[in-house]
Amino acid sequence: MDLKATLDDKSAFNRAISMCFRGLAVIMSSPMTQINPFPAARKFKNEVSESIRFLRETGRRCIEERLRAMEKQEEVPNDILTHILKEIDQFKGDGQFDMEGLVDEFLTFFIAGQETSANLLSFTLLELGHHPEIMHRLKTEVEAVLGDKEYLEYTDISQLTYMMQVFKEVLRLWPPAVGTSRELSCDVTVKGYKVPKGSIVVVNTYVMARMEEYFHDPLQFDPDRFKASDDKSQYAYFPFSLGRHNCIGQQFALIEARLLLARLLHKFNFDLVPGQAHEILDEVTLKPMGRCRNYLRLVE
Ligand code: HEM
Repeated sequence: MDLKATLDDKSAFNRAISMCFRGLAVIMSSPMTQINPFPAARKFKNEVSESIRFLRETGRRCIEERLRAMEKQEEVPNDILTHILKEIDQFKGDGQFDMEGLVDEFLTFFIAGQETSANLLSFTLLELGHHPEIMHRLKTEVEAVLGDKEYLEYTDISQLTYMMQVFKEVLRLWPPAVGTSRELSCDVTVKGYKVPKGSIVVVNTYVMARMEEYFHDPLQFDPDRFKASDDKSQYAYFPFSLGRHNCIGQQFALIEARLLLARLLHKFNFDLVPGQAHEILDEVTLKPMGRCRNYLRLVE
């Protein structure tokens, strides 16, 4: 689905997504905003509600159009939406078909899948801009794997081993989703403190991955710490969360990221526009505050 987002960063869809993130961030940091009667707060809440309505309508329209096309047996894209909709036929009869549920899932996939991967790539380009030696090593790997080819084949992706280390290291220092929360299903004792069943526990990969206890020289950007033999980080580092509700899209995200970065580095040299502060914006997801602006030069 092409939202033309790269051509128009003020597109209605982009604006609505940012507004929803801002709404969620404000509710999390100042829950009283929900009952704040002052005009500025009400205006903000209306804008957030309008954005949610717009996104849901867009999702609903996509699903309905695809369903109609499938019913008329028109040609439809071979994508995840088609595959999901093919399966729902079996629910239509017994009243379990739930359009609102489908719209929920559509938006979860859309937002969980886009914003996070985009932020990972932005942080990666920032780190590469600050570490020319790592950029050089990465470009050498891309050159060796791609050579004269214009496109990557599936088997090429697993050859990009250093790139995978770079992404793991970016996800350690700059995880787009800083953590998650879970409700305890039983009492747990941690270092002598009893945490009762039913408590909400917040776990934060951003904090844990920056602790000396788990990572040597933690603030240093060093992809080599993720060489297969050195990787001892499983429970101190969880950018895709852990357990039953971990990220369903993690393999997809890492394939997509390798594919995009390899193609970009193969074609272009990137130079950070000078003067960008390396600050982060924590608005539900983490992203570089000043985005990540680069000058691009075609590779000779
Ligand atoms: C770098 C990219 C990504 C990061 C860092 C990331 C991170 C996460 C995290 C931390 C969670 C767990 C949230 C929780 O514990 O409540 C999650 C869940 C989820 N992610 Fe991702 N994600 C990424 C890419 C994707 C992509 C590409 C997709 C879809 C194509 C996706 C779809 C989902 C979905 C549907 C869930 C909810 C899973 C469930 O509740 O069972 N994510 N993601």
